Amino acid sequence: MEILVATEKPFAQIAIRQIREVTEAAGFKLTVLENYKNRAELLAAVSTADGLIVRSDAVTAEVLDAAKQLKIVIRAGSGYDNLDLASCTAHNVVAMNTPGQNSNAVAELAFLLMLYQIRGGFTGKSGSELRGKTLGLHAFGNVGKYVADIARGFGMDIYAYDPFVSERVMKNNGAKQCLNVGELYLKCQYISIHMPINEITKKSVGYDLIKKMPRNAVLVNTARKELIDEEGLLKIFEERNDISYLSDVEPDCKAILEEKHKGRFIFTNKKMGAQTEESNINAAVAAARQVVEYLNTGKEKYKLNR
Ligand code: 3PG
Repeated sequence: MEILVATEKPFAQIAIRQIREVTEAAGFKLTVLENYKNRAELLAAVSTADGLIVRSDAVTAEVLDAAKQLKIVIRAGSGYDNLDLASCTAHNVVAMNTPGQNSNAVAELAFLLMLYQIRGGFTGKSGSELRGKTLGLHAFGNVGKYVADIARGFGMDIYAYDPFVSERVMKNNGAKQCLNVGELYLKCQYISIHMPINEITKKSVGYDLIKKMPRNAVLVNTARKELIDEEGLLKIFEERNDISYLSDVEPDCKAILEEKHKGRFIFTNKKMGAQTEESNINAAVAAARQVVEYLNTGKEKYKLNR
């Protein structure tokens, strides 16, 4: 049986070596398609695969139609908005992710963005410090917990809002619970967003929430750009010049921000949150183990589709 790794954005080479060790030790053939430039390459490569490992690569009905032997697809990472789950189910393909494996890398990137901004983008002008600043975690899953962990070391005053996480869990991780999202935005100068994207969360952070934030507010988004209502973001940017937006990946309104609001945003031009050797190894090896285990035993831990 064949396992295909297909990634437009390649893993660190050591991660590929470790996937090879896991899959070949279990007797599977491994094929690697990295850095592919067009869908045709993916469609051709997937045609003989029994298992597929991807990153943010879109696994659509077209891919699944081409994947005649496919039994399982694993998103090596957390967010699975790139997988068409209904289509996976219709094609009898199990879909999984590898939650938590790249969370520390994303959390560290949130701090890189905050530190770069608070030090004035290294322009030589005097900056400020994170110690004592209020930090609000909008969602308290794996990444939110890592951010809280680092924020404690920085001496930040940490709050969290997450309707699915108990006060006890937040307290154990050093965060004070906010009972509603408005309270979080009202209290915190820094807000770091860690929600998954879905029909409810899409565009859920916009004008009404951001305008609640205190002076010199900084909104940090290392999750998905689609969580932000960009019209609302632009509106509040027009009304208040003390707000900054830091984001892992360019927003759609990048050109307007560049034209009108210089110095008030930072973007990575490619999504970089999980782009570390460690998180590549963690997510890749977890994906390899899950695919091997499923193909050998049918174990469905982290199955996403029903
Ligand atoms: C995730 O959802 O796990 C992150 O966004 C990482 O995505 P990537 O594998 O494309 O870097």
